[in-house]
Amino acid sequence: MTSQAYLSQLFSLDGRVAVVTGGSSGIGRAIATALARAGAAVVVVARREAELVATVGELEEQGCRAAWVSADLGTRDGVRAAAEEAVAAFGEPDILVNSAGVNLRPPMGELGEEVWDTTMAVNLEAPYLLGRRFGPGMAERGYGRIIHVTSQQAHRAFVQSGAYGVSKGALESLARSQAEAWSPYGVTCNTLVPGFVMTPLNARLSSDPDKVAALAARTMVGRNGLAEDFAGAAVFLAGPSSAYVTGQSVFVDGGFSVH
Ligand SMILES: NC(=O)c1ccc[n+]([C@@H]2O[C@H](COP(=O)([O-])OP(=O)(O)OC[C@H]3O[C@@H](n4cnc5c(N)ncnc54)[C@H](OP(=O)(O)O)[C@@H]3O)[C@@H](O)[C@H]2O)c1
Repeated sequence: MTSQAYLSQLFSLDGRVAVVTGGSSGIGRAIATALARAGAAVVVVARREAELVATVGELEEQGCRAAWVSADLGTRDGVRAAAEEAVAAFGEPDILVNSAGVNLRPPMGELGEEVWDTTMAVNLEAPYLLGRRFGPGMAERGYGRIIHVTSQQAHRAFVQSGAYGVSKGALESLARSQAEAWSPYGVTCNTLVPGFVMTPLNARLSSDPDKVAALAARTMVGRNGLAEDFAGAAVFLAGPSSAYVTGQSVFVDGGFSVH
């Protein structure tokens, strides 16, 4: 067997279909690109059409199969509509990546019900509803990969974690519950745990050079994360060689969490 064939056996996503929420920006976009380049047909889901169109255009230019769905994952009807539209593109997915997320940071004393509800809806309820829609089908077909993007704030408070940290902690628990339910049927469920990654989500922090340098110093690698740092871990967790890895939180954080 050539090394190329061996690598394909371990990691190829040829013939697989993936749905990536938040796939039009930051970490989600990098993951969508990695899965598509590894062979999967990818549907990216988010609200803003211009970013979705640009992402799919870039993937198609690289010879990948890709489609987009514009939907608000902050409402249950929006999630349900997104799921059905996503299936219409390439069929039922084998891989679900939940990267769409919001981080609203009012101080705890001012954290109102609206921020709480939005945070829980996008960060926690949408992954739950999409898992319930796609998980049983994956289990029936005997192959599935569910990957949630959580946060170091699932494990520790950091810059007004407020509702955000709560939603991410619950998302890690959701992954374990899903893993317990569906792993016997070939469906693994894991989380990717970012530290501090330079994306539009944290523009407030990443636009301050002193804060950026201070955060980089807290990692072991000596720099902050880039969206592309998630490519390899996502391909691994989406592919055949991670069949015995389930219910896990995989930190992609340059050592931030253990420093
Ligand atoms: N960057 C970091 O340092 C960091 C650290 C820890 C965890 N994370 C997590 O990593 C994930 C990706 O974050 P990122 O940094 O890549 O952020 P980003 O660049 O802001 O991307 C967020 C994505 O989510 C989509 N989205 C947000 N609200 C949505 C809604 N209501 N309905 C549908 N789509 C929605 C956005 O598209 P639209 O706005 O067009 O809808 C966008 O595609 C998030 O879950 C975040 O919590 C990030």
